[in-house]
Amino acid sequence: MSESKKETIIAQISDIHVGEQHFIPSLLTRAIDEINELNPDIVIITGDLTANGFRMEYETARNYLAPIKCKNLIVQLGNHDSRNVGYLHFEELFGERYTTFKNSTVTIVAADSSEPDLDNGQIGREHYQWISKEFRDSEKNSFKIFAMHHHLVSVPNTGRERNIVNDAGDVLETIVDAGVDMVLCGHKHVPYLWRIEDMMVVTAGTVSCLRLRGAIQPSYNVIYIREKDVDICRRYPFDKIEKIKGIKRSIRKARLCDKFITEKK
Ligand SMILES: [Fe+2]
Ligand SMILES: [Fe+2]
Repeated sequence: MSESKKETIIAQISDIHVGEQHFIPSLLTRAIDEINELNPDIVIITGDLTANGFRMEYETARNYLAPIKCKNLIVQLGNHDSRNVGYLHFEELFGERYTTFKNSTVTIVAADSSEPDLDNGQIGREHYQWISKEFRDSEKNSFKIFAMHHHLVSVPNTGRERNIVNDAGDVLETIVDAGVDMVLCGHKHVPYLWRIEDMMVVTAGTVSCLRLRGAIQPSYNVIYIREKDVDICRRYPFDKIEKIKGIKRSIRKARLCDKFITEKK
C-alpha cells in the first residue's frame, strides 16, 4: 500500500429494490449522502436494484444512484433484476455482468450469479478459470474480493436453504485456492459475517427495502482495508453504526484440507 494512501474504503450497498411496494426512497438517498461524506474509493452494489427487472425500474434505479460521487462504481445483477429478461436492460444501462476492478491495493472480481426468471442462482463452471486468472493477474499482496448477489454460505434466519448458489462448494474451492480475502454477497436482506479458512464472507442487508425478517433493519456495509488489518462497519441509514475493528489480514493462505497426510495402516 502506498505511503500516500494508507487505507482503502469500500462501501457496499445491496438489494435496493426500486419498484417494490416496500421500497423507501429516503433510506436510499440518505445512505448515498452518508456514503458520499465518507468519500470511499470504491462503491459496489451487490444486486437486486429492481423488483422485476423492468426497464422503468432500471431507469429509476439509475437516477437514484446518479448522485454517488465515487468514480469506481461496480454494479451487479440480482435474481430480481434477471426477471423478465431484465439482464438486457442491465447490460445497456449499467454495463458488463462480469467485471474486474484492480488497483495497487485491491482486486475485486464481480460475477453474475443470477439465472433468468429463477430465484436461485449459480456461478457456473465455465467461469471458474476466468475467476482464477483475474485473481492470479492481480497485484502481489492486493486485498482480493469476490462479489456476487446470492449467498455463498448459508446465513441464519433466511428460511430453509435455497439461497446459496447451486455450485457453492466448487466456487468456495476456486476462490480459496485463488487466495481470496473477502466475499461480498447480498440477496436475503439479512446482514451477516462468516470466516471460512482465511476468508471473510460478508453478507449485506437491504439498504432501502422494508421486506425484512424479524427485527432486522435496513443497512449497508463500509469496509476499511489497511495493510495489516480490516474494519467492517454495518451502517443503518439515519441511525446507528455497528463495527468490528482490526480484523487481522492473513497474507500467507493455506487450505486446511491440504494438510492431510497419508499414512500406511
Ligand atoms: Fe433482494
Ligand atoms: Fe435477491
